[in-house]
Amino acid sequence: MLNINSFKTEVQIDSPGRINLIGEHIDYNGGLVLPAAIDKKISFSFKKNGSNTCEIHSVNLNSSFTIDLSEISRSESEWQNYILGVIYHIDALKAGSVKGFDCVFESNLPIGSGISSSAALECGMAKGLNELFNIGLTDLEMIKLSRDAEHTFVGTKCGIMDQFAVMKGKENKLLLLNCDTLDYKYIPADFSPYTVVLLNTNVSHSLASSEYNVRRDECNTALGAIQKKYPEYNSLAEIEPEVIEEFRPILPEKVYNRALYVSREQRRTLEAVECLEKNDLKGFGDCLYRSHEGLQHLYEVSCKELDFLVDFSKDHKYVIGSRMMGGGFGGCTINLIQSQKVDKFIEKVSDAYRKMFDLELTPIEVKISSGVSRSLHRLKK
Ligand code: GLA
Repeated sequence: MLNINSFKTEVQIDSPGRINLIGEHIDYNGGLVLPAAIDKKISFSFKKNGSNTCEIHSVNLNSSFTIDLSEISRSESEWQNYILGVIYHIDALKAGSVKGFDCVFESNLPIGSGISSSAALECGMAKGLNELFNIGLTDLEMIKLSRDAEHTFVGTKCGIMDQFAVMKGKENKLLLLNCDTLDYKYIPADFSPYTVVLLNTNVSHSLASSEYNVRRDECNTALGAIQKKYPEYNSLAEIEPEVIEEFRPILPEKVYNRALYVSREQRRTLEAVECLEKNDLKGFGDCLYRSHEGLQHLYEVSCKELDFLVDFSKDHKYVIGSRMMGGGFGGCTINLIQSQKVDKFIEKVSDAYRKMFDLELTPIEVKISSGVSRSLHRLKK
């Protein structure tokens, strides 16, 4: 068992969560997404221990585990798998580079709320080991191996958006990422006089991971069918809605709906970026509402708690946009609310939510911050 009180940190890492303004379920369909890193994060302390084992301690879970570097395999525990996966994939790229180490981490990112505590854990681990052992991995290598860790050790066939945002986020900037080419640019995140507020439903339906993989398969089915006639398409996101329409008679209804959602969401993301560039925040907010409608009815990854929050916001003019965020089936909505009205709205919506579901809502005000970084401050004792 690690003695946290006498832990002599050699490398300290902060790894943030992320929001996504728009472009949901688009990353694994090869399109554009608009995420950003936030000021909520996991803080890690690392030190070498000169052995062939690793001791990892999660402060929040008050739980530790030991890894024998000579035999890395999956564990029964999900949070351990994120870490095991990262070590495994670093070793696959740079054999023997990870040696024995101790690590303590603590988080203020709510788990299962769609703000990517998983990518924060993976990328923080990758960055910490890269620094501790001078492995020389590039950001892109760390992004990809963190995603691979989630595929192979956790079993969620996620896209690349979360790891990209967590690694490459910048203060007050949104990241417009093309998930096909991995080209990206930063755009100013200026929403004034509105504030970005997350409302955490505090529900996380167990469907999330299995249905996620089902959506991915459905999208591949649609793309495969369309490519038979139009082999020039490489991804679902690039296909125009009119072309998708053509396949309505031959695709199963659900598969058709998924494809139509993806095609429209990609175009909405472009529209939303244009709105931001023109400082048309109401137009931007409207894109968020339309995105939610698609996620609810065509992509079917929402749930009654999320739908309730989005519907409730529509009766309040000072909320100009709202939608579910992340993988879905629970987690948070992302809302653009007139700054002076934030407190009032939170009070009203929390009351209504409590009455409806007998559950507490957790509001989270987020600042758009930098990605994974080595920090100077030490773990709180
Ligand atoms: C999860 C995945 C991402 C992305 C979103 C939906 O957060 O990890 O890759 O697909 O869902 O946009």
